[in-house]
Amino acid sequence: MGMDILSFSACFLIIFSKASIALDKISPSESLTDGTTLVSSDGSFALGFFTPGSSKNRYLGIWYNNIPMQTVVWVANRINPINDTTGLLKIESTGRAVLLGQNQTTVWSINSTEAAQNPILQLLDSGNLVVRDGKDGDSENYLWQSFDYPTDTMLAGMKIGWDLRTGLNRRLSAWKNSDDPSPGDLTYGVELQGNPQMVLRKGSEKYYRSGLWNGNGFSGVPNLRSNPVFDYDFVWNKEEVYYIYYLKNKSVMSRFVLNQTEKVRQRYTWNPETQTWKLFSFMPSDYCDTPGLCGANGNCDNSKLPACQCLKAFRPKSLERWNSSDWSEGCIHNKPLNCQRGDAFIRIERVKTPDTSHSWVNKSMNLKECRARCLQNCSCMAYTNLDIRGRASGCAMWFDDLIDIKQFQSFGQDLYIRVSASEAELKNKSEAKLAMIIATPIAVFLGLLVVIYYIRRRRRKLEDEVEERIENDQKNQGRSEDMDLAVFELGTIARATDSFSFHNKLGEGGFGPVYKGTLANGQEIAVKRLSKSSGQGLNEFKTEVKLIAKLQHRNLVRLLGCCIHGEEKMLVYEYMPNRSLDSFIFDQRRCKVLDWPKRFQIICGIARGLLYLHQDSRLRIIHRDLKASNVLLDSEMNPKISDFGMARTFGGDQTEANTNRVVGTYGYMAPEYAIDGLFSVKSDVFSFGILLLEIISGRKNRGFYHKNQSGNLIEHAWRLWKEGKPLNLADDFLAETGSLSQVLRCIHISLLCVQQHPEGRPSMSSVVLMLGSENELPLPKQPGFLFHKSPFEADSSSGNHGSSSKNEISLSVLEAR
Ligand SMILES: *[C@@H]1O[C@H](CO)[C@@H](O)[C@H](O)[C@H]1NC(C)=O
Ligand SMILES: *[C@@H]1O[C@H](CO)[C@@H](O)[C@H](O)[C@H]1NC(C)=O
Ligand SMILES: *[C@@H]1O[C@H](CO)[C@@H](O)[C@H](O)[C@H]1NC(C)=O
Ligand SMILES: *[C@@H]1O[C@H](CO)[C@@H](O)[C@H](O)[C@H]1NC(C)=O
Ligand SMILES: *[C@@H]1O[C@H](CO)[C@@H](O)[C@H](O)[C@H]1NC(C)=O
Ligand SMILES: *[C@@H]1O[C@H](CO)[C@@H](O)[C@H](O)[C@H]1NC(C)=O
Ligand SMILES: *[C@@H]1O[C@H](CO)[C@@H](O)[C@H](O)[C@H]1NC(C)=O
Ligand SMILES: *[C@@H]1O[C@H](CO)[C@@H](O)[C@H](O)[C@H]1NC(C)=O
Repeated sequence: MGMDILSFSACFLIIFSKASIALDKISPSESLTDGTTLVSSDGSFALGFFTPGSSKNRYLGIWYNNIPMQTVVWVANRINPINDTTGLLKIESTGRAVLLGQNQTTVWSINSTEAAQNPILQLLDSGNLVVRDGKDGDSENYLWQSFDYPTDTMLAGMKIGWDLRTGLNRRLSAWKNSDDPSPGDLTYGVELQGNPQMVLRKGSEKYYRSGLWNGNGFSGVPNLRSNPVFDYDFVWNKEEVYYIYYLKNKSVMSRFVLNQTEKVRQRYTWNPETQTWKLFSFMPSDYCDTPGLCGANGNCDNSKLPACQCLKAFRPKSLERWNSSDWSEGCIHNKPLNCQRGDAFIRIERVKTPDTSHSWVNKSMNLKECRARCLQNCSCMAYTNLDIRGRASGCAMWFDDLIDIKQFQSFGQDLYIRVSASEAELKNKSEAKLAMIIATPIAVFLGLLVVIYYIRRRRRKLEDEVEERIENDQKNQGRSEDMDLAVFELGTIARATDSFSFHNKLGEGGFGPVYKGTLANGQEIAVKRLSKSSGQGLNEFKTEVKLIAKLQHRNLVRLLGCCIHGEEKMLVYEYMPNRSLDSFIFDQRRCKVLDWPKRFQIICGIARGLLYLHQDSRLRIIHRDLKASNVLLDSEMNPKISDFGMARTFGGDQTEANTNRVVGTYGYMAPEYAIDGLFSVKSDVFSFGILLLEIISGRKNRGFYHKNQSGNLIEHAWRLWKEGKPLNLADDFLAETGSLSQVLRCIHISLLCVQQHPEGRPSMSSVVLMLGSENELPLPKQPGFLFHKSPFEADSSSGNHGSSSKNEISLSVLEAR
């Protein structure tokens, strides 16, 4: 017994000491087995064996030690997993570290170049695993370090780039997926061809490049700027070329990682309050980050439509191709260059500098020397300062075609591009005019009367010209404001919606999920993330969105802009705090908020919005999916129709009156549309009629249930109408709050709208008139009893007729997935 207690406490002591005094290093006499870890001395990182995601394999890796969410930052045996828990890490007395796997096979090893007398393997507080000579104390004289062999994550203090002395190239490569740390085809590193720049590659394809380092940052990375979390630097000398960052506050965790599934490089920062990683930035972040999208001498500008523009003084090489959105052939000079007789340069502002593959730099030349040098060499097409800090210095030149220029609005740097002398003159002349206007008054003051007279005449002429120019400019600006839809960067949207987090999801519409977001300026937005299957070209998309944005009416939800990122397309709307109509009228408690006068006002608003779509807008939009959940309410309960133009844009070919892709919602679809795919403004009128019945009765057409009767809401309404007691349809409490004649009139109008034959249904303009007057109405004919005749009926309500509690489902959703 005594022995037992003794051995027990000894055992306990051993376990206890092992658990509390976590080791940060091992020497040749020790080893690390699966189940034990090394922990860096301040506890920030741990080294041990782990199993990623749903995989069954074991890997040796490093992760953040003091957060609950396992976040692996480095993996040793990423291509050679261990399939059981026999993994064992040890360091041999030669300084060679070995990882043994199943059946004692070596699955991974490191090769220290120099032999050490007393080698130790140590995990540092930075997350760096190093081999060093124990005799060296804490010196940074590492024989080997994991920072030289990064996997997918760049930690603070890690260099990404080249050691030119040894030829070591440290670059990141993504995990294949979250279950498999073996290298995917996404890599990120410094490329030296021409002049150094950071390049993200997908396989061999250049997927994104940073642009040249300009002292402050990279000319193409707007979100790399002074920030509270980290400092960064790019070192470029004879011995080394690398990018590095340092944390400003060591207790703030931030990591930089490649993500194969999203095909981006991301930076995450740990949020201790929510205990999650928050996306800080990512690249590429928009369409114009695609290298060479606009071809040679093109300039990609997200704020323009189309995004690809030729550089100033250039024109498309093939206009036809350019017009059809094929920009690959790029642009050529408006006027041919003439190097012998002398060319000139014009400045373009705020751009990401071109691809550096054909470039040349000199760190000590100034801009003037740079220009002279560029002018001398006929294949030099552009130049700029290499370093834009302070008074700017250095020289960078580009030869041959200029590839991958991106226009920024408030970032980037100036670039001087070579044009023919005559082209530059054109531009200079207009600048000279302005200078003259400033100079002329002095001449006037000093000159003789005749001269005054002469100059005055001339000045007037000049002023007229200038005024005309300013006017033109203003016109152009006005026009461009009118044309340009706000194009949001994906980063902005991701930040606004907390990376499309689940708790910001407002719902799922017919064309994709909708998220609530808050922009940096506090404005609330609703973001519709369109399903990727729309199969629509980017330009068509932009054109359509631009058209939709022009639809402005107080009963339509306002489109604020869009966001395009590769396959990803999003629409940004104003946010409606009261959500949708269905959340009120079908809710037993909240329906009381909407008394009859409010409901009538909502009905009139919807009618006006629909009328605008059908008639008053330039586009003639058929909504095709009008329903209670597509009517949103603002803070004052004014109705706003949403999702208009979506069917036109994403639902197939609008020019035909017959479609094989039926977009819409059961329960709201006109029979001719649901069955034959025929649609017209009158199918919208039908949906409006149903909506009216729902607003009056507070019950859904689909899933309508009445104890003694079969059939849907329309049938019920029709029966009551026939029996001469239509008011029984109305929600009980409406009778107390409303004018009965108005309720009756609305029931009457709704029955006119749901008539079987489209020709018999009134147009929306008649509906608006009917709502607003007391005139006598025609008698309604037999309504379209869609549900009994619908071919979809059998399988959609699965025999549960009349009592289905399913929510309405947009058909487009069913088809899109
Ligand atoms: C692990 O791998 C070895 C060979 O690499 C194989 O012989 C063994 O059966 C595997 N064990 C399991 C559990 O899959
Ligand atoms: C394990 O290694 C031993 C000795 O090398 C060998 O005889 C045996 O076949 C191996 N077993 C497996 C499953 O590979
Ligand atoms: C060690 O050297 C071998 C052979 O040269 C090589 O295959 C292996 O990748 C090297 N290991 C590391 C970690 O560099
Ligand atoms: C890639 O990013 C997505 C979304 O940000 C995330 O869900 C996923 O886990 C990431 N994949 C990896 C391998 O980190
Ligand atoms: C560093 O961050 C921690 C946690 O956010 C904070 O408590 C601390 O005050 C910060 N230190 C400095 C020097 O800003
Ligand atoms: C291309 O578009 C421009 C402007 O819209 C137009 O003036 C020109 O005629 C078009 N050219 C061709 C070949 O389609
Ligand atoms: C760079 O410019 C400086 C100053 O103009 C000049 O002395 C030097 O030779 C240039 N270097 C090269 C490689 O041309
Ligand atoms: C122009 O510069 C390029 C690149 O440095 C060089 O290869 C070429 O010889 C130069 N041409 C002339 C005429 O100096």
